[in-house]
Amino acid sequence: MSDPSNHPRHVAIIMDGNGRWAKERGLPRLEGHRAGAESVRECVEACKQLNIEYLTLYAFSSENWNRPPAEITALMTLLDRFLDQKADEMMQQDVRLQAIGHLERLPDKTRSKLSKAIERTKDNKSLTLVLALSYGSREEITEAARSLVKDAAEGRISPDDVTKELFASRLYTNDIPDPDLMIRTSGEMRVSNFLLWQISYAELVIFKKFWPDFGQADLFEAVEEYSRRHRRFGGL
Ligand code: FPP
Repeated sequence: MSDPSNHPRHVAIIMDGNGRWAKERGLPRLEGHRAGAESVRECVEACKQLNIEYLTLYAFSSENWNRPPAEITALMTLLDRFLDQKADEMMQQDVRLQAIGHLERLPDKTRSKLSKAIERTKDNKSLTLVLALSYGSREEITEAARSLVKDAAEGRISPDDVTKELFASRLYTNDIPDPDLMIRTSGEMRVSNFLLWQISYAELVIFKKFWPDFGQADLFEAVEEYSRRHRRFGGL
């Protein structure tokens, strides 16, 4: 195992390929998402073992609202079930749940389950699991800009007050450190509107396999790869 002092503090994952995984097996897409939820469990377990502090998962993007209504409903049902079933487990595992994104767009039932799980787990300390739901980075950045312009127009700040830090404080992630490592599955080399501001210095590790085939060993491998890379932040 790699040197723990060289481990990422925050891992973010683009969980891609559930649909293709199902298609390869002649199964409905929903079966791929179901199997993908199992990989989520494995990753939480692996992060706990590695003492990683934050795990952010791209569970539903703002673009995902364009999918057929039946698939959206199936994903929300899966999320509801995850929240129902995992809240006890999160308490046992000392996992704190948070969510980022345009959460107002989620169905009322899902939003209420989410707030309950967030509230119930808020004092847990060992891992923060952040679900990105109805999340889009450009929307997030636009909202941050809008709130700063509003403050300036109403005289609460002046244009010169706008620093990187003030800007970052208006993002959904204001109390979450930037990801050190970003993982994407299914071989795509894209960041797909995920945490564009926050991944400025993140190391990217791409896996060819589809998300439902991703397990603990793969997370360990990504962390090893991260630890091997020399991170210079543009310096020497
Ligand atoms: C990408 O695969 C995956 C998603 C859009 C949803 C991710 C959801 C899960 C892993 C399950 C539920 C999550 C939680 C936290 C309970 P895709 O459908 O885009 O795959 P494709 O590119 O092969 O079509």
